[in-house]
Amino acid sequence: MSTSAERTPLTRRTVLTGLGLGAAGLLAACTNNSGDHDMGGHDTGRSFGPPTPLQPVPGQRLVTATLNPAPTTVDLGGIQAPTWAYGGAIPGPVIRASAGDLLQITVRNGLPTGTTVHWHGIRLRNEADGVPGLTQAPIAPGATYRYDFVPPDPGTYFFHSHVGVQIDRGLYGTLVIDDPREPGGYDAEWVVVLDDWTDGVGKTPDDILAELVAGGGGHAGHGMGMGMGDPPWGMGGDVTYPDYLVNGRVATAPETFAAKPGQRVRIRLVNACADTIFAVALGGHRLTVTHTDGYAVQPRECGALYLGMGERYDVVVTLADGVFPLVAAPFGKLAIPARALVRTGSGDPPAANARPTELAGEILTHADLAPADAVRLPSKAADSVLPVVLGGGMGNYAWTINGAAYGKNTPLQLTAGQRTRLRVVNQSMMTHPFHLHGHTFALASTGLRKDTVLVRHMETLDLDFDADNRGSWMAHCHNAYHGEAGMMIELAYRA
Ligand code: C2O
Ligand code: CU
Repeated sequence: MSTSAERTPLTRRTVLTGLGLGAAGLLAACTNNSGDHDMGGHDTGRSFGPPTPLQPVPGQRLVTATLNPAPTTVDLGGIQAPTWAYGGAIPGPVIRASAGDLLQITVRNGLPTGTTVHWHGIRLRNEADGVPGLTQAPIAPGATYRYDFVPPDPGTYFFHSHVGVQIDRGLYGTLVIDDPREPGGYDAEWVVVLDDWTDGVGKTPDDILAELVAGGGGHAGHGMGMGMGDPPWGMGGDVTYPDYLVNGRVATAPETFAAKPGQRVRIRLVNACADTIFAVALGGHRLTVTHTDGYAVQPRECGALYLGMGERYDVVVTLADGVFPLVAAPFGKLAIPARALVRTGSGDPPAANARPTELAGEILTHADLAPADAVRLPSKAADSVLPVVLGGGMGNYAWTINGAAYGKNTPLQLTAGQRTRLRVVNQSMMTHPFHLHGHTFALASTGLRKDTVLVRHMETLDLDFDADNRGSWMAHCHNAYHGEAGMMIELAYRA
């Protein structure tokens, strides 16, 4: 990871903030790490010391932030939902830095239970990865923990709790890593976070998980419209939610983005859902996909695109004149799509349940994209091929990797320096968003670079990466309920 000197010079302000927080962070680092193993996460019997602080090297910019996970009530647009969130709002804050900066992010746990923060998609040092039982003990209620890391790659990322199904409450936010060499070429930039929502208005995520595992049949909301054969993703999910949200708002009280006709806007789309794949379109517009999971692609135009849980896509759009719905339609679930509005002129917004015609056309998937040449993984034969078999079904809600649930399956063994191929075989009838920690992969088929990819029912995908970041890492299904029910596996480096 780069901590080289050609970074933005330190400003007086960053130096001062840095010193201030640095001192606080050192004190804070002395708090509970005694390994409160039943506060979330899986008891791996490991114990963890306090995190090792990092200090900026000369010329490296320091970015500090504080996250306060705590109980709160959020306004979904006329609907009050008691829940847990960072800083009292959903989505959580946007944390912004540049590639190569040092991030020091302090987390003060105001929740009644343990928590962690995972920096999804970032190739960071292992101890900042936020996985309870694997890289740290959960942060105890009232305790403080500081995550220090250097993000090496620019892009759109997000962060979320990695304890239990806390991600299905409001514990998520966006992490934007700017490219110091980014050409730009757009007039505005919007962050658009998608979510499926139940907490405080329906069952709690913990109750949903308990019912699913108890074999209640799966569908917390007694889901309908989940046709087995729906292309391209088979069954859409296990949970039917009371609400679907764009930037924390229901479709009847949407956020409005104001702009001028003819402006070019970069939209950073983040799917923070626990159980929902979305099809996204901006009524009356074509979207140009420029990045997925942070990595540049060969620009590709589309009317609509799919986003799985944990995936991010950046699109650029040239705005027309009027009022348009930016719609996120849950795949395979009968529900009013979530939306925001884009207003560049006069006119009435379309009805809350309007479905842009773009959603009836071709909808782009990762398979339609190729990587930008600059981000291609240098081609090399795989030194080792590791099978990752996704299994299980709705019957008894036992989701597995390589035949057993997390904790019972054998960790995948990596050898440092090797080009490694994960052969992900989906032997179930559902689509699973497969996510790798600490590394990013290239799809062997197209070379597309990603960290989270939708693997269709009965599909096999080969994912290539270099084992160049030692530590204990997770790979798992980013359906929060599947993951918690066992569809996770550890990756361990051979000594
Ligand atoms: Cu965003 Cu292990 O997850
Ligand atoms: Cu899954």
